[in-house]
Amino acid sequence: MDGAVVGYADLQPSGYIDHFYVAGAYANRGIGRVLMSHIHSVAKTNQVNELWSKVSLTAEPFFSKYGFHVEARNEFLLRGVKMFNATMRKSMLA
Ligand SMILES: CC(C)(COP(=O)(O)OP(=O)(O)OC[C@H]1O[C@@H](n2cnc3c(N)ncnc32)[C@H](O)[C@@H]1OP(=O)(O)O)[C@@H](O)C(=O)NCCC(=O)NCCS
Repeated sequence: MDGAVVGYADLQPSGYIDHFYVAGAYANRGIGRVLMSHIHSVAKTNQVNELWSKVSLTAEPFFSKYGFHVEARNEFLLRGVKMFNATMRKSMLA
């Protein structure tokens, strides 16, 4: 936006979304929606049958909004701090 990178996402051939991030200063402006729409478009073009990600607690409602469901709840240690996320998945076949 105006020459600045304000968000980014990836989609791996397996359907795994490893990165999905919008800079806090640019949240709630529709950037996440555009990124998610682009991921869906690329997935359809490449015949990726399902999308999945390990989603932070704060982003979980956002992913639910786009049809992902919680498959598993995970806890892990990051630099000695206990963290939580959810494995979320969406079929692209329906
Ligand atoms: C979660 C995140 C991707 C949302 O991006 P964003 O650009 O702020 O989202 P948008 O403005 O495009 O919002 C699209 C829709 O989702 C909704 N939404 C956005 N964030 C939401 C949240 N945390 N909870 C519930 N709904 C949310 C918006 O209200 C909007 O709804 P509408 O279309 O009905 O108006 C972004 O806040 C983010 O990157 N957070 C930190 C990093 C993170 O946790 N990434 C996920 C790791 S896998």
